[in-house]
Amino acid sequence: MCEKCRGNYYITTPIYYPSAKLHIGHAYCTVATDTMARFKRLQGYNVMFLTGTDEHGQKIEDKAKEAGVTPQQFVDNIVTGPKGVLDLWKLMNISYDRFIRTTDDYHVAAIQKIFKKMYDNGDIYKGTYKGKYCKPCESFWTESQLVDGKCPDCGGPVQDAEEEAYFFRLSKYAGRVQDLLENTDFLEPRSRVSEMVNNFIKPGLEDLCVSRTSFTWGVPVDFDPGHVVYVWIDALFNYMTALGFENDKYDDLEAFWPADVHFIGKEIVRFHSIIWPAMLMSLNLPLPKKVYGHGWLLLDGGKMSKSKGNVVDPYILAEHFGVDALRFFLLRSFPFGSDGNFSNELLINTINVDLANDLGNLVSRTVAMAQKYFGEKLPTEQLADEEKDAELISMVSGLRDQYEAEMEKYAFQNGLALVFKVISRANKYIDENAPWVLAKTEEGKPRLAKVLYNLLETIRVCGGLLTPFMPATSEEIAKRLGGARMDWDSLNTFGVLPADVATVAGPALFPRIDMEKELAALEELNKPAKPAIEIEPYSDEKVDFDTFCKSDFRAVKVKACQNVKKSDKLLQFTLDDGTGTDRQILSGIAKFYKPEELVGKTLVAITNLPPRKMMGRESNGMLLSAVHTEKGEEKLNLVMLDDAIPAGAKLC
Ligand code: MSP
Repeated sequence: MCEKCRGNYYITTPIYYPSAKLHIGHAYCTVATDTMARFKRLQGYNVMFLTGTDEHGQKIEDKAKEAGVTPQQFVDNIVTGPKGVLDLWKLMNISYDRFIRTTDDYHVAAIQKIFKKMYDNGDIYKGTYKGKYCKPCESFWTESQLVDGKCPDCGGPVQDAEEEAYFFRLSKYAGRVQDLLENTDFLEPRSRVSEMVNNFIKPGLEDLCVSRTSFTWGVPVDFDPGHVVYVWIDALFNYMTALGFENDKYDDLEAFWPADVHFIGKEIVRFHSIIWPAMLMSLNLPLPKKVYGHGWLLLDGGKMSKSKGNVVDPYILAEHFGVDALRFFLLRSFPFGSDGNFSNELLINTINVDLANDLGNLVSRTVAMAQKYFGEKLPTEQLADEEKDAELISMVSGLRDQYEAEMEKYAFQNGLALVFKVISRANKYIDENAPWVLAKTEEGKPRLAKVLYNLLETIRVCGGLLTPFMPATSEEIAKRLGGARMDWDSLNTFGVLPADVATVAGPALFPRIDMEKELAALEELNKPAKPAIEIEPYSDEKVDFDTFCKSDFRAVKVKACQNVKKSDKLLQFTLDDGTGTDRQILSGIAKFYKPEELVGKTLVAITNLPPRKMMGRESNGMLLSAVHTEKGEEKLNLVMLDDAIPAGAKLC
């Protein structure tokens, strides 16, 4: 620890599943953690802020398979690829000190040692995992994973089955964990304690299955091939392996463990407040000082999720409104411990009211007046007015400590409310003192200078206390006040700026947003990008009904399909048309399909066209397809029917 520091401080965010791109809900927790980390640094702590990604597990394995890439390629793309996790944190100005990926070699090796240690001390033992088995899918399911009692993958029947697995003796720690939750402030907000105790501990904590054999994308149990470590053991220990626990990569365990606080979302409180302390107890390790389960950012009253398609893209918001405005909005609008309903209207309104009107105006007006009436610097001859100044000065002087008390409780919203109360008071102080009137006479000038000085000093303190929330804005404010001090010690004192403070003019910090225009623009941006499609023009020429009815459209099944030698266009189809005799059709679609893709498919053919010869082969009919042009490129899709439709069925 450095000599000047107040101490070490270790704070973490959950490590994210890179199974899809992150949304604004993910950014919420990381912005809050970043704000807390910056606050602690401002106070003078030596901070370690850890974040990262939790990259193992069946879900990732499945998604990679779907995408046709290896699991490692899949996660690499989401973590380090364009607009991936690392890019997002850079954009959001997240000042993490360390980033862990659970696929990092040092972490994998450490998890193997940790698993073995708990096996050796008897807290991990081999048993049988009883569940439901789907034979065709070769998958184990728990009762709760079934859909209507059937396999969630194929919808087929499942049977009772047993699988060899390792278990952690969670039940052994039930009493100690309950005591920890009920009799200490380990878990906050306190409202989450009873949920844990009543829903999970009191009904009886069962031992936890901590290995899997049904997939391979995980940390292998090195003493029992075929088993991989349960993803939550792998994930939870990141908080310690990232400091050097059971590895030589880092050496910060002594300085930073136990963690001061783990910030996490409410749905993973169970893992952090029951399983995590129990495993640490098993290894006789110190417990983190606090776990804080924050609420969710909701959209239309429900959770954001990729599968619901209602996620909000933080890139769009940050690019549109600015990173600081977005960071501010997240912590100003919702109490951290409770859920909050996200909406674009609320975001725009918060920016307009707090940032454009209150803060932005205060800075613009004050700096503009200082420059207009006195030029670059304020004169040192200034006249105080005890009666008129006392309230503002006392509010500003007391602000840092009140704010600190709220921030120590992670009550970001309250901390900001205090700052904005002072900002409002300062705007009122301008009106009360009417600088434009004072400016009219020479005698008014000393008083005018004092009024402006008091305002600039108020802006300095408020700007300083906003640093953890809006780092770039605070830096800009310091610049406008001639490079003002905003260190922690200076924020508790009124009168730190030199009397002849030099100001620097600049554009509005937060221009006012036109609500309607912006909502429409956002709606447009959030629409899924439609490819530019050109459709063949419609024909005006009419076909009489009887002529049309003469066309004999039939369902045909592809028995065989092959490329035609020396033609890069033609595919030759052998089709079952229901007559018992194979039908041959040649079609110029080789550039759109590989022959093997089509075998077994049920297509539509018009069968009563006169036979035609192509490349010396006879074609008896034509297959129907849909054609259009996309970005200048011709696209074609054969019309395919449900396989239940028999060959020869007439289409009418
Ligand atoms: N990988 C686990 C955490 C392991 S920690 C040892 C995980 N990852 S996650 O990507 O699914 O979620 C990461 C965090 O984002 C969680 O804390 C979760 O609560 C949070 N959020 C995801 N959606 C959210 C909202 N809509 N609102 C607020 N936070 C939410 O869980």
